[in-house]
Amino acid sequence: MGNLQNDLIIRAAKGLKVERTPVWVMRQAGRVLAPYRAVRQQAGNFINLVKTPELAAEVTIQPVDILGVDAAILFSDILVVPEAMGLPYTMDEGRGPWFENTIRSEKDLLQLSSAPVTDHLAYVTDAIGLIKRDLNGRVPLIGFAGAPWTIFCYMVEGRGSKTFSLSRAMLQRDPNLAHDLLSRIADATIQYLKAQVEAGVDMLQLFDSWAGILNSEVYNVFIMPYMHRICEAMKDTVPLTVFAKGAFFSLKELSDLRCNTIGLDWHTSASWARQVVGEDKTLQGNLDPAVLYGSFEQIKTQTHAMLDAFGEQRHIANLGHGVYPDIDAEHLKCFIESVKEYQYKLDQ
Ligand code: CP3
Repeated sequence: MGNLQNDLIIRAAKGLKVERTPVWVMRQAGRVLAPYRAVRQQAGNFINLVKTPELAAEVTIQPVDILGVDAAILFSDILVVPEAMGLPYTMDEGRGPWFENTIRSEKDLLQLSSAPVTDHLAYVTDAIGLIKRDLNGRVPLIGFAGAPWTIFCYMVEGRGSKTFSLSRAMLQRDPNLAHDLLSRIADATIQYLKAQVEAGVDMLQLFDSWAGILNSEVYNVFIMPYMHRICEAMKDTVPLTVFAKGAFFSLKELSDLRCNTIGLDWHTSASWARQVVGEDKTLQGNLDPAVLYGSFEQIKTQTHAMLDAFGEQRHIANLGHGVYPDIDAEHLKCFIESVKEYQYKLDQ
């Protein structure tokens, strides 16, 4: 694997033999780390941090140095794509993302930019260049994007929601408009992911954070074609992980995607997932992030139980969703060390 000193995660994704299970953590670059909070303060706000390549590179690498994870994940956000498509957003502490303009009608689609999204995303590819230089092959770099349904939700609602009912209403009332928007998002996502690969990322992850709000019929018929379009477009590039949170109801269909790894949330058991997905894909996950509120002993026991359940090969250890920002960094570190130490024990 080129000039990578630690390529465990790439080998695990490709189904090649690994000496121990690799580990990284969703939201590892974030508020859980005090040095992140310091850099964020220096940047003034979240969006400035995302748009300043030197600072984004610095916080991307922090978890590699502090936590000892087996991969870095690009510090950015899935919302840079809707912004590049023409919908600017703000991110206020405590309130989450907020878009001034939304897409609710055919007329709203006209406000979207027709320029390639990559014209507006040079700050991301610049950050990737700096990160690759500074990582210097220590661990692989994971790039990412939001999946079409999750990005659609933000573009339609303009903010987070418990029910995403405006988005789900559009699927019912105006399916042609919904398809038009989903299709544009899928194409923009392909351009963006290809630009990340060209800039040097070693792996990719597609986040479908709000998949679980749909049902299998809607997800399989309405959404899955766009997931296929993206996976097909990326199949000859770098290993790809698809994480559709809450979409246990479509796990079989997800396992037919041309991707290497399926991410699992903590509602899904390892043995059931392996049975449904079969042997040809790697599984990623899936410790309940709330376990990290427990004692060191509890974290270690439950992490080892998770590793027992997945087995040694074709598994990338992670939480079942992003780490909660009020978790003690030492507890997060305990999770990572528990994964590494478990394999060490097996080798004795
Ligand atoms: O470490 C990493 O995982 C890399 C960076 C990363 C961020 N967001 C940084 C971030 C990644 C991969 C994301 C993806 C993302 N963003 C998703 C998909 C993953 C998931 O969590 O389901 C989603 C849905 C978003 C949208 C988003 N960004 C929301 C809803 C929020 C507000 C909620 C919150 O956690 O504050 C964000 C903000 C955000 N993105 C923060 C970080 C570190 C917190 C902002 C801050 O520092 O104040």
